[in-house]
Amino acid sequence: MSILAATLTHLANNEAYHDLPYPPEMHDIANLDKSREAYDEISCWPGYAPTPLYQLDAIASEIGVAGIVYKDESQRFHLKSFKALGGAFAVARQLQQRILAETGETASIEDLLGKKHDAVVKNIVISCGTDGNHGRSVAWGCQMFGCDCVIYIHRDVSAGRKQAMEEFGANVIRVDGNYDDSVKQADMDASSHGRIIVSDTSYPGYMDIPRDVAIGYTVMLLEAVEQMQGAVPSHVFIQAGVGGLAASVCAYFWELWGDRRPRFIVVEPEQANCLQQSAASGKPVAVEGELETLMAGLSCGEVSLLAWEILEHGADDFVTLSEDAVAPCMRLLANNDPVIEAGESAVAGLAAAIVARENPDMALQLGLDESSLVFVIGTEGATDPELYRQLAKNQ
Ligand SMILES: Cc1ncc(COP(=O)(O)O)c(C=O)c1O
Repeated sequence: MSILAATLTHLANNEAYHDLPYPPEMHDIANLDKSREAYDEISCWPGYAPTPLYQLDAIASEIGVAGIVYKDESQRFHLKSFKALGGAFAVARQLQQRILAETGETASIEDLLGKKHDAVVKNIVISCGTDGNHGRSVAWGCQMFGCDCVIYIHRDVSAGRKQAMEEFGANVIRVDGNYDDSVKQADMDASSHGRIIVSDTSYPGYMDIPRDVAIGYTVMLLEAVEQMQGAVPSHVFIQAGVGGLAASVCAYFWELWGDRRPRFIVVEPEQANCLQQSAASGKPVAVEGELETLMAGLSCGEVSLLAWEILEHGADDFVTLSEDAVAPCMRLLANNDPVIEAGESAVAGLAAAIVARENPDMALQLGLDESSLVFVIGTEGATDPELYRQLAKNQ
C-alpha cells in the first residue's frame, strides 16, 4: 500500500548538461568561495547554529530506497525557514555598500551588529515584495542591523505571516493581486521613495542583490555536506517558487561534485509551475492566474532570471506535485521519530520523491531504485502555526 497517494507530472530536461563540469560562466552567479565568505559572516550572527540533518530510515525502507537525508530548516535561527539566511544576508551587504559609499569605510559584520555606523544606517529603508518567509528574513535583518523596512504582501498571505513581519518592526502593506503584483508594487514605490529593494527574485536590470540572497542560502549546503560525512546523494528533489533556492542547491553541488553530482529534480505545485513551463518552452515564461496552492512559498508565476540561468542546464527533471500530497506528508513527519515540524512548502521535495518511488513508471524515468540516496530540504517549519495545527495535527 502506498504511503502517499498523489500525482506527479514529469518533464525531462533536454537541455541538461549533466556530465559537464560546472560552467565557468556560472561562477559569476555562485561559487564555493562566495559561499564560504557568507558562512564566515552568517555564523557570527547572534543565535547561529547549524540545523539538523536527519536520516529518514523508516520512510526510506518503506518506499525502497537506500536512504533519505532531510536537512531540517524549521530550526533556522528563530525564523523557522532557510530564508533567514538569504534576505538578512543581502540586507547586510547593502548596508555595507552604502556605508562604504558614504564614509569610505569598510564595515565588518561586527561593526553592523555593534551599530558602529548608525548615523548612516538609520536613514536607509529596505523594501521587498514577499509571500512571507523572505520578508520575515529581510525584516529581521533590518531590525538586527538597525535600518527601516517596508514589506509588501499579496492578498493571500495569512494574517499570521503578516504579524510575524510586523513583530520584527516592519511596516507591512497588503496589495490586491498575487505574489508577482506585490513584487512590482514594492519596486515602483521604492523608486519614488528612495528605498533599496532586497528581493529574492531577479529580473532584467536587477541581478546583483538576488545573487547575494542566493549565496546566503548556500550556508545550509555547506553544513549539510559536512553532516553527510563524505556521502554523495544520487538524487536531489528541491521545491521551487521563483527557483532561487533550487538554483543555489544545484550550483553548489555541481561545482562541488562535478560529474559525480546527484540527479537534480525541481518540484513545483501544479498551478504554479513556471520553471517546468519555462523548460518546456526553452525560455522563461510566466504562469498567469491565481497560482493557487497550499504551498504558499511556492506560489510564484515568474522565474527568477538568475535561477533560470543555472537551472536551464543544471536541472535534470522538472516535476509538479498535486496538492493532496501536502498534508499527509506533513503528518508523516509530525509522526516521525524524531518528530519533525514541516510546513506546507517544506514537504514538496520529500513528497515528490516518495510519490515518484511508489510509481514504477516514474521511478524508472527518474532512475530511482533500492540503491538511491535521496537528499531533500525541509525548507520551513510551522511558519503559519494555525495552518500547521490544522494540516499536520488535524486540529
Ligand atoms: C519554505 C519555502 N520553501 C521553498 C521556497 C522556494 O524558494 P524560491 O522562491 O527561491 O524557489 C520558499 C520561497 O519563499 C519558501 O518560503
